[in-house]
Amino acid sequence: MTPPARSLHEGLEALRDGRASDPAALSAVSRLAGAYGTPLYVYDAAAISSGFRALKAAFAPRFAKLRLHYALKANGSVAIGRILRAEGAFPEVVSLGEILTAMRAGWKGADVLFTSSSKTPAEIEKAIALGAVLNADSRDELEQASAAAVRARRTVRLSFRLNPGVDPDTLHHINTGIPESKFGVHLDGGDALAAYARAKDLPGVAIAGVHCHVGSQIADTAGYERAARKMLAFVKELKERLGVALDFVDLGGGIGVPYRDGETVMTPEALAKALLPVWKEGVSAAGYEPALWLEPGRSLVASSGFLVTRVNTVKTTPLKTFVNVDAGSNTLLRPALYGAYHRARVVSAAPGAPRLLDVAGDVCETGDILAEARTLPVPSAGDHVVFLDVGAYGFAMASMYNARPLPAEVLVDGDTATLIRRRGAFEDLFRGERRPPGPGRRARAGSRRAAPRRRRRPARPRPKRRGA
Ligand code: LLP
Repeated sequence: MTPPARSLHEGLEALRDGRASDPAALSAVSRLAGAYGTPLYVYDAAAISSGFRALKAAFAPRFAKLRLHYALKANGSVAIGRILRAEGAFPEVVSLGEILTAMRAGWKGADVLFTSSSKTPAEIEKAIALGAVLNADSRDELEQASAAAVRARRTVRLSFRLNPGVDPDTLHHINTGIPESKFGVHLDGGDALAAYARAKDLPGVAIAGVHCHVGSQIADTAGYERAARKMLAFVKELKERLGVALDFVDLGGGIGVPYRDGETVMTPEALAKALLPVWKEGVSAAGYEPALWLEPGRSLVASSGFLVTRVNTVKTTPLKTFVNVDAGSNTLLRPALYGAYHRARVVSAAPGAPRLLDVAGDVCETGDILAEARTLPVPSAGDHVVFLDVGAYGFAMASMYNARPLPAEVLVDGDTATLIRRRGAFEDLFRGERRPPGPGRRARAGSRRAAPRRRRRPARPRPKRRGA
């Protein structure tokens, strides 16, 4: 008797567990690549829901008032937003585009937390009109928000992003809470207190909370604890010095994920456990308990994502073996930009012997290596290489560099796959382009003798549309 066929979800799980030659993995990749082509971003819906539930299960029993936001920048797919909204997440956004994404995913304006270090007047006005929380990054922004709220005859719900001067020990590029970073109002030295004092005096402003985000891909709890301690000391100071009580304290996102086989990072459970005593002590000193807000992106979606690529050629030089695939740093930027590591699985019905090799992209850049110096079975042209943990900052950071349209995105639920973004088309490359005046036209305009004017052709009558 033949065993029952296993689902797409099981195939993706097998890839994750390092069983790339499992028939379920082979069949899932060939079904998905066959139906949707490559390069292809695939997201496993079950992983997204279970990631959110694990976060909630860790925090909800410990923190009486809790609100979990999802940082849409990690993955702005509306379909993924809908899953997280259904699970109970709220949106954290950084731009008007992300506000529109949040609305499409079904969130309401008042659900939105808008954090960006550089907002346009139009973005500030939109946030006010929607009743979103505006997370201000400077005194300048506060003044602009107050003026805009007064003009609109509304009140803006406002928090400040603070820079707590805490180094959570992560990559420099994504280390945002250190003093030299561009983000936030400095907590040390009185800037933050002065900002709140001004906010209290300004018309059209309702102080709602305080915020910090000290970095991304944070692997242990120590940086979070230090930031929380400083933030809660400030909550007390606000109450005592200004008589201000806050609705929320947002400790940001940044929860790390394991990118390598065998790697361990702090779990939501470990973070919740570590934060609880700091929180309890802080709120008891402050004399009241605001809500705890968090806003992770990566940890909710990274491990749900797989990038399926096809091998174009395999080339051995005197120094190395290159597996050239049909995706590159235009498709997945993290390895080229941060030296980030993504596990690569060779999916082949007849894999060669393992060898030290580089999986190279299809972009004309020396740094366009998606997986460097890995020992992997040598594939052949037409086989697939699948990259893991690309659900966060994967598609979101993709570009059309080298005139390659964007990849498609597919959501897998059990054994069902749904296209959630069609593959980019060549028309996308030229969308919005306008032809400048041709050299002939410019030359005529500049010459002394005016060129004879062309007669306009009479407009042709348009054929009527049938059934219109
Ligand atoms: N909140 C704020 C204010 C943020 O700036 C960020 C991320 C988050 C929340 C979500 O952080 P997460 O939980 O995802 O770590 N492109 C980089 C990551 C940049 C993160 C930017 N801010 C990467 O691919 O690693």
